[in-house]
Amino acid sequence: MKIMVINGPNLNLLGTREPEMYGDTTLETIETRLASLAHELDVELEFVQSNSEGELIDHIHRAGTRADGIVINPAAYTHYSIAIRDALAAVSAPAVEVHMTNVHGREPFRRRSVVSAVCVGGLWGFGAATYEGALRLLVDGLNADEIS
Ligand code: DQA
Repeated sequence: MKIMVINGPNLNLLGTREPEMYGDTTLETIETRLASLAHELDVELEFVQSNSEGELIDHIHRAGTRADGIVINPAAYTHYSIAIRDALAAVSAPAVEVHMTNVHGREPFRRRSVVSAVCVGGLWGFGAATYEGALRLLVDGLNADEIS
């Protein structure tokens, strides 16, 4: 089984970006932790990060043909990118939406997600560990044939 982990804009700056909000764990550390969980779950991961909407869409398209599932933190694009929403809807690989912070407890504009409706589910608010929770839930669901 192969899962693509896609991170959107500004997440390359994790570790130094607003640490009071996002903590001090870098994206590299998050990916290392995910790689070790993937080993335990016996799945293959591919990591991508981009600050550009078009590149993220291209990654989603590739996931559609190369992966069994997607873990995605679309970052700010979550709240307004219909193009990313449409890309997720266009591919058959099921996606889980991830946010490190509790987006529902922040500014009103973060409470709206245009991608949630085309994801199988979402997880937010647990900091760096949110990614691991999402990966576990996605893989368990795929293994049990409860997600497609
Ligand atoms: C985020 C929340 C978004 O609102 C924000 O734009 C981000 C990160 C999160 O992981 O909490 O860049 O997706």
